[in-house]
Amino acid sequence: MAFYETAVRPLLFRLDPERAHDLTVRASELSGRSALARRAARRALAVDDPRLRTTFAGLELANPLGLAAGFDKNGRAVGLLGALGFGHVEIGSVSAWPSGGNPRPRLFRIPQDGGIVVSYGVPNDGADAIRARLDAARPAVALGINLVKTNDPARPAVEPDVYEDYARSFAALQDRAQYVALNLSCPNSAADRDFFDDLPRIDALLTRLAGCDPRVPVILKLKPTLDAGVLREVVAIAGGHPFVAGFAINLPAGKPRELELSAPRATLDGMPGAVGGKPVETYVNAILGTLAGITGPESRYALMAAGGVTSAEDAYRKLRLGAGVVQLYTGLIYRGPELVGEAARMLSDRRA
Ligand SMILES: Cc1cc2nc3c(=O)[nH]c(=O)nc-3n(C[C@H](O)[C@H](O)[C@H](O)COP(=O)(O)O)c2cc1C
Repeated sequence: MAFYETAVRPLLFRLDPERAHDLTVRASELSGRSALARRAARRALAVDDPRLRTTFAGLELANPLGLAAGFDKNGRAVGLLGALGFGHVEIGSVSAWPSGGNPRPRLFRIPQDGGIVVSYGVPNDGADAIRARLDAARPAVALGINLVKTNDPARPAVEPDVYEDYARSFAALQDRAQYVALNLSCPNSAADRDFFDDLPRIDALLTRLAGCDPRVPVILKLKPTLDAGVLREVVAIAGGHPFVAGFAINLPAGKPRELELSAPRATLDGMPGAVGGKPVETYVNAILGTLAGITGPESRYALMAAGGVTSAEDAYRKLRLGAGVVQLYTGLIYRGPELVGEAARMLSDRRA
């Protein structure tokens, strides 16, 4: 069995989940400052194989595997994360203004389901601080920055303030990234998450961002839905904005019945938030398949997939469904960074 699962995970799982997360980010930040540590990580974990090279949204990536948003919210650890073998790393969500997020506890494990429940509510240092940090970082990997509206009761989700919030962080950060993802429905910002259910507002946001002279591809991270009519309408809206290069799918809010959960209801009731990891896999794969059917094989749109990837086979399934890249998060909590190399090796065999 892998080193992480035998030696590291048992220690981390003894800690409160948010504390374990903070410690992991801090350890990654510190070790990432050392060229020696970065080289050692790369040698131990990264798979460098030309067969894995991937074009996604016009970007040339070393492989189709990425780190999903939410692990490195503040761009602290991009030095080390860039050495773990990912083809891209997405930081954030970042908002225009700093936010403390939701009250604690706000992160819970459901080990029996290979899941995690999250209600962070997008805490982050805000666009200006993160821009300054990235100026000093120079990550050796394609960097995505995920943007979200500031979660702050003093900044309610009303027009046009929401558009101005995204425009501010977009203008501050687009030149620090290879792509920008717009988080259009953080499941844990209860006051904001339904704002873009009114789909013309997506058009209004994109019209506002067009005024920021977009110079990087933009991915829309959508609220999950199996409603093909809604997905079709979103794709049509994106059609009017040439800088939109693709779509991703967020976690659903709460514990909808589509999720595959065996944990007792009483346990889940004590865990406010959205579920990530294995329980969402079937659901998000169904949405991915629907979206791929709508955009079509020759589409200008790239699809970014995440949700329940804990093995190379899981990543391969998403690529077969039409994803251009596959992102990992909860799988890393259970399987560790070895998962990246394992998946990369298997994918390169499949491309042989
Ligand atoms: C702890 C945690 C925090 C997350 N934070 C964010 C976030 O800030 N912004 C965002 O767009 N997605 C966030 N996500 C969603 C992930 O980016 C990803 O889409 C989702 O977790 C599905 O992948 P997984 O099943 O491999 O975790 C978060 C997920 C988790 C588990």
